[in-house]
Amino acid sequence: MPKIPVIIDTDPGQDDAFAILLALGEPSLEVLGLTTVAGNMGLTQTTDNARRIVELAGRGDIPVHAGSPRPLVRKPHPVPEIHGATGIDGWDWAPARSGAAVGHAVDFIIDTVLHHPDPVTLIALGPQTNIALALRRAPEIAKSIAGIVFMGGGYFEGGNMTPAAEYNILVDPEAARIVLGAGVPITAVPIDCTHRAPAPVNWSATLAAHGTEVMRACAGMMEFFERYGNAKHGTPSRPLHDAIAVGALLWPELFTGELCPVDVECAGELTTGMTVVDWLRQTGKPDNCLWLNGCVDPAELYRRMEVALAGLGRCAAAPHGSAEM
Ligand code: BDR
Ligand code: CA
Repeated sequence: MPKIPVIIDTDPGQDDAFAILLALGEPSLEVLGLTTVAGNMGLTQTTDNARRIVELAGRGDIPVHAGSPRPLVRKPHPVPEIHGATGIDGWDWAPARSGAAVGHAVDFIIDTVLHHPDPVTLIALGPQTNIALALRRAPEIAKSIAGIVFMGGGYFEGGNMTPAAEYNILVDPEAARIVLGAGVPITAVPIDCTHRAPAPVNWSATLAAHGTEVMRACAGMMEFFERYGNAKHGTPSRPLHDAIAVGALLWPELFTGELCPVDVECAGELTTGMTVVDWLRQTGKPDNCLWLNGCVDPAELYRRMEVALAGLGRCAAAPHGSAEM
């Protein structure tokens, strides 16, 4: 089976880390590179985190290109209260052995999309600043992109940062609007969908039981990631939003949704960052987005994730400070 070539644009984040590891562990995907953006943390930190994650997986060969240090027109909006001081708290990470690859993320996206022999899929797991800049600088890439799968937004579920806005869209609504208007096939994985797919309760124990370095890191991150959300929402477990977006690309049969017109509110007094989904076709605008709103089998989704993660980096990364092979 030919692999699906992907670029992952990311702001790790524990759930970004799971998404990246899932993509690396899944044989049907070919990860061409990671591009980083300011989001959950500042750009220096998200770039360093991305390096640590690929190295943990034994895939230090994957280039990580640093991108935009701030949203298009707004101020950065880091959230250490959710993700911890590093963004990927919960594990004693080894320092990254290498830094970012030469070349800006936006250049990497444009060059790769234009020159890769097969159409490339972009997976957007943070504010969409880099992708919007790439589409603005080189609009011709739109026809060579196989599709964009993004985690972000919420309509039926409201927002998780304001009553109307989800984090990734709130941080850079102008960028999301550019992306949605670019004429590229888009799949949105909003909280309407991810909130239907919480992780199994106490999943961290299941992960830790595998005993590999990657799984122990995942268990630690999962435990940390769940603490804030469970306390805030009174839930017994949390959805790994960004990993679910990769799951939606891999296993569309596990999800429900509908193709419809979607736009972003950029100037609302109460609703800035809201993804406005024309579910009942009021606007007459063309369909631009497959809007996922459900997961038919969350247990199966996390089972498949577990299988992919379990195969990773079995002898790749020694624990921090240890001489283990
Ligand atoms: C999104 O916000 C970020 O904090 C997560 O990494 C995820 O991409 C969920 O709303
Ligand atoms: Ca993210």
